Amino acid sequence: MSAAVDAVVDAVANVQLADAKPRAHDQVITPWEVQGSVAADGKQEGIDYDKLISQFGTRRIDNALLERFERLTGQRPHVFLRRGMFFSHREFDKILDRYEQGKPFFLYTGRGPSSDSMHLGHMVPFVFTKWLQDVFECPVVIQLTDDEKFLFKHELKPEQTKQFSRQNAKDIIACGFNLDKTFIFSNYEYMGGMFYQNVSKISRQITYNQVKATFGFNESDNIGKIHFASIQAAPSFSNSFPHIFGAVSNIPCLIPCAIDQDPYFRLARDIAQKLKYQKPTLIHSKFFPALQGPQTKMSASDPNSSIFMTDKPNQIKKKINAHGFSGGRETEEEHRRLGGDTEVDVAYQYLTFFLDDDEELAKLGEDYRSGTLLTGQPQGKMYFPIAERRTAISEELVDSFMSAQRQISPSCGRAQAQ
Ligand code: TRP
Repeated sequence: MSAAVDAVVDAVANVQLADAKPRAHDQVITPWEVQGSVAADGKQEGIDYDKLISQFGTRRIDNALLERFERLTGQRPHVFLRRGMFFSHREFDKILDRYEQGKPFFLYTGRGPSSDSMHLGHMVPFVFTKWLQDVFECPVVIQLTDDEKFLFKHELKPEQTKQFSRQNAKDIIACGFNLDKTFIFSNYEYMGGMFYQNVSKISRQITYNQVKATFGFNESDNIGKIHFASIQAAPSFSNSFPHIFGAVSNIPCLIPCAIDQDPYFRLARDIAQKLKYQKPTLIHSKFFPALQGPQTKMSASDPNSSIFMTDKPNQIKKKINAHGFSGGRETEEEHRRLGGDTEVDVAYQYLTFFLDDDEELAKLGEDYRSGTLLTGQPQGKMYFPIAERRTAISEELVDSFMSAQRQISPSCGRAQAQ
């Protein structure tokens, strides 16, 4: 009864909010909502990432850290690092220490399967994690939270989110993960054993008050949501995966994720100490800008805001032309005379993340700003081989990646060499 009353009160409040003009507010960054701030005059601002670093208490990834990375691994930092897509961290330096000492660690990342097709923004952590796996030659675990999407999205059934897990696994596998060192799991399928034991150990350490303060839930939220933090935290601990690490509980992980996921892992880091486990370390990315511009991120529920892995090259081009925020001028004559604005042009911004060649990017930028390169031309350069590879991923290969009935070596490249 009282839950129903609450729901009506919420619904009325929402209608009132929807009718009102957008009010000035600070930026909102939670695992469920990403919105830049709105100024007093109603103007939408881009996300202020410096502010997030100080609010969340994380560290900026600076040149000294990248230089050390390059010195230790002999690898040039990935374009996501060089151009600031991954911009923040918690104790990434500790993982580099372990790499230097030849001690093992693993990578953990995940995906909430809310639809059967992933978009470019979703791919960022996976493209990056695959690259880190190549550099460190370390094990990777990937959590597909089909339970989470069922609990948080009332229109979805478990049968659907489970199906989305398998479909999304194909996009993830297409990034090129090493089968011998990668375990992809659906929570619905893998829950049990040591994984569940950790989930319950974690949940005993978290109070309702803590979850309320961290995520903003209230008494009308279903209790599955309140408990979910323990399920996302559990893969941070190596003994959740006996087929990889046996009973060893002290191998630390590095979690590449978008910064909105940080609250889960702040909790996980607190709890690690209490359970005498290793604290997970993190490396955070910015959000991938929506086609409409950098005030918000790509969202799967708005097809016009996103480029999906299943979109064909000509569809991508059409979408960017129709919906992409352009830095070009009104007319061709004006564009040739005044040049375009690369700072706001969405197609150009995308290229900064996907075009590895620094010289080519610099030339493209110069030509666009000087007006010799026309609007609509940067998008001609977009090409996503991952989307092409996806079509070749078989059901059998998905089964293999998702199987816990196999041994996966816990060692990293350097550890093995010693
Ligand atoms: N909650 C994440 C999402 O909705 C999925 C997720 C689970 C995840 N574990 C993770 C993301 C670890 C990054 C790192 O997408």
